[in-house]
Amino acid sequence: MIYIDRQTEQEMMKKWDETAKPYEHYCERSPYFHEFISRSGIKPGDTVFDMGCGSGTLCVPLAEDGYTVFGADFSEKALDSVRDVVAERGIKGLTLKRLSFLDDWDDAGIPVCDHVFASRCLTGLDPAVVLPKLTRYTKKRVCITIHVNHHDGILSGFKYRGSDSLEYEKACFNTVIDMGYYPRVDYMDCMFDEIKGGWTFISWDV
Ligand SMILES: C[S@@+](CC[C@H](N)C(=O)[O-])C[C@H]1O[C@@H](n2cnc3c(N)ncnc32)[C@H](O)[C@@H]1O
Repeated sequence: MIYIDRQTEQEMMKKWDETAKPYEHYCERSPYFHEFISRSGIKPGDTVFDMGCGSGTLCVPLAEDGYTVFGADFSEKALDSVRDVVAERGIKGLTLKRLSFLDDWDDAGIPVCDHVFASRCLTGLDPAVVLPKLTRYTKKRVCITIHVNHHDGILSGFKYRGSDSLEYEKACFNTVIDMGYYPRVDYMDCMFDEIKGGWTFISWDV
């Protein structure tokens, strides 16, 4: 598979900026949120780094529940949506950074957290580059979700081939093994807008 380089990442950033929606656009504490969090193993008092946090599906409710959360995304518009809801509700404990997967996260001051999430955001990124990077920022567990569908289609405005999405899932699984960890694989059957397929949830403990 061919993975994106920094230039393509910058081009994708513009596209994500165009599609970013306000936090309220999505169902709050959606089935997706519950399915993800129930598999994450987080416990009260844990810290979370939510990379590719988008409009706040995971990081906003977690911060409301009292977790200390770092959310990062390369879309300023998505981050603005989160900032709006944080200001409206007076949410504490959520630190936001504008960051891409291929940026230097140490420079941005992201600390090593108990848990690291990369939910529905690994589009086109080389697992051999980004999964070790996510792993370096966790003390306990990394959780990622990937869209998996046997058929070709469009998701969030991006075209995908079913065969590529399955190859991507395998590449992620193999990368976790290559790093010396044991990947847990589970499936979440909660899509949106009648899009077919589901989410593969992969997690590993460090
Ligand atoms: C489908 S949304 C998912 C948002 C959230 N994690 C969730 O599960 O609802 C994908 C998000 O990933 C971000 N994203 C995609 N590629 C990225 C990259 N290379 N670096 C940083 N953020 C990225 C996009 O800006 C977008 O906000």
